[in-house]
Amino acid sequence: MNLRLPYCFCFFLLLQLPFSTNGQAYKNVSLGSSLTAASGDLPAWTSPSGEFAFGFQQVGDAGYLLAIWFNKIPERTIVWSANRNNLAQRGSTVQLTADGQLVLNDRSGTRIRNTAYLGGSGAAYGAMLDTGNFVLSGQAGDTLWQSFDEPTDTLLPTQILKSGAQLIAPYLEKNYSDGRFKLILQDDGNLVMYTTAYPLTTSIFPYWSTGSSEGSGNQLIFNQSGYVYVVASSGTILNPVFSNPVPLQDFYHRATIDYDGVFRQYVYPKSASSGKRWAMALTTSTNFVPPDICLAISYPLGSGACGFNSLCELGDDQRPSCRCPTGYSFYDQDDERKGCKKNFISQDCGHPSQRNR
Ligand SMILES: *[C@@H]1O[C@H](CO)[C@@H](O)[C@H](O)[C@H]1NC(C)=O
Ligand SMILES: *[C@@H]1O[C@H](CO)[C@@H](O)[C@H](O)[C@H]1NC(C)=O
Ligand SMILES: *[C@@H]1O[C@H](CO)[C@@H](O)[C@H](O)[C@H]1NC(C)=O
Repeated sequence: MNLRLPYCFCFFLLLQLPFSTNGQAYKNVSLGSSLTAASGDLPAWTSPSGEFAFGFQQVGDAGYLLAIWFNKIPERTIVWSANRNNLAQRGSTVQLTADGQLVLNDRSGTRIRNTAYLGGSGAAYGAMLDTGNFVLSGQAGDTLWQSFDEPTDTLLPTQILKSGAQLIAPYLEKNYSDGRFKLILQDDGNLVMYTTAYPLTTSIFPYWSTGSSEGSGNQLIFNQSGYVYVVASSGTILNPVFSNPVPLQDFYHRATIDYDGVFRQYVYPKSASSGKRWAMALTTSTNFVPPDICLAISYPLGSGACGFNSLCELGDDQRPSCRCPTGYSFYDQDDERKGCKKNFISQDCGHPSQRNR
């Protein structure tokens, strides 16, 4: 059994800053409420507008993600999850306990993890907000914990990536486990993308950065007009990342580090229109970084954005595609980034070459 749980929730203790949720109407999730991972249409805790929901999402036959997703679009795009490396099994529950802790229990009632560790007093209630932020609040309405402080692979408008925080790409498009790339706002103030030491999330090779180094206290902000930028603690904008003003009232927005290692800004029309899908913002300015990941990642050892022995090319859609050179084929057809292997055993010691497969 894979017990590689993300144990580092200690930082929640440091984040008990009062955060104003005034003026935001929401339905409370009261103490004692719970949701169960079952088959069929699952109940969820939705935001007042219904645009976001918190609950379980089934991932094929593998189990359930405790997640937040865009709830009004057919794609049900996931923007946050609590247990991407350790899916919950059928019958698991998430509960806001009587003492105000948010916990994930397996079918037998054994605690899989504290989703949010709140220390002593616990929350008075929870709420799924219309911004896509799930919050646990104290008696006075102060925010004790918020999903926005524990991002997975996606940022939403009004969300801030704080110094030291990171986004980890999913493993594949439909496999939400920690993947091979990450975006981190380093303590030195620089926003950097790295390949990771998969299956660990430690940084290996930096392939893009803003070069901002104003010092500690920088933040990555996704503001309400759809701009994404690094800002110094003084409030000075240091580096724009995306500058695509797209009206928030007409489009859903997100900025996601995808499984291919590219950080992209996406929009999705809210109004009824044909051919609705997540698209990159239709502007002339940048809506993904790095501009060419194939060029950005090239180790001396010949392993790049597509893995060992492979070839990486940006397609017309500006997305990297992986290929194997002549005489090589993918190790795993379903996972091209594992790289390519030779089709033939190399000829040595005078043995005739032999078909490998
Ligand atoms: C949510 O719960 C808190 C604490 O019990 C209460 O003060 C607040 O009025 C409630 N809000 C709503 C919208 O029910
Ligand atoms: C996702 O990929 C990882 C790595 O190959 C694998 O261990 C895991 O089982 C996959 N998860 C699902 C749900 O297929
Ligand atoms: C978002 O940032 C841009 C660029 O700094 C600025 O022009 C715009 O006014 C900001 N929007 C909001 C709502 O703060």
